[in-house]
Amino acid sequence: MLSERMEQALNEQIKWEFYSAYLYLSMASYFESLSLEGFASWMKAQAVEECMHAMKFYHFVNERGGRVRLQAIEQPPTDWESPLAVLEFGLKHEREVTEKINRLVELAQEEKDHATYIFLQWFVTEQVEEEDSFGSLVEKMKLVADAPGGIFMIDRELAQRRIDFTSLATETNA
Ligand code: FEO
Repeated sequence: MLSERMEQALNEQIKWEFYSAYLYLSMASYFESLSLEGFASWMKAQAVEECMHAMKFYHFVNERGGRVRLQAIEQPPTDWESPLAVLEFGLKHEREVTEKINRLVELAQEEKDHATYIFLQWFVTEQVEEEDSFGSLVEKMKLVADAPGGIFMIDRELAQRRIDFTSLATETNA
């Protein structure tokens, strides 16, 4: 059984995961407006992953006898100054999500909620990957800043991303 505080905090996190999906879909749309199809495709895959993160929380709350109550999702930004600015925004956002996950872990410890604590470990590891993905992209973009054609090379590379459905199973232990 989830405590009321824990249930509320997990519900809040469902909102943030869906907000992340919204944000990355908005970024995809920005890239599509620049005809950077590889960047757009990468962001769409990222948005799908975020929906699945939300669903992991959704299933977990239900499994623990809690009640999912969906909250309003804010409108994400729609425009950025440059492709680099988009990726820097994404990195900053992932760092904020890491903070939120860390606070959930701390709350699970305070509540002596071992099941939630263990469930959250998947997200702790996932956040390392999420920050690394955006961090690497930011670095690459800075490297090619003065190289004409560099951004198109990255665009081609990003078009290769495929959604990893194996890590996105809806079961909480997947
Ligand atoms: Fe669900 Fe990108 O963290």
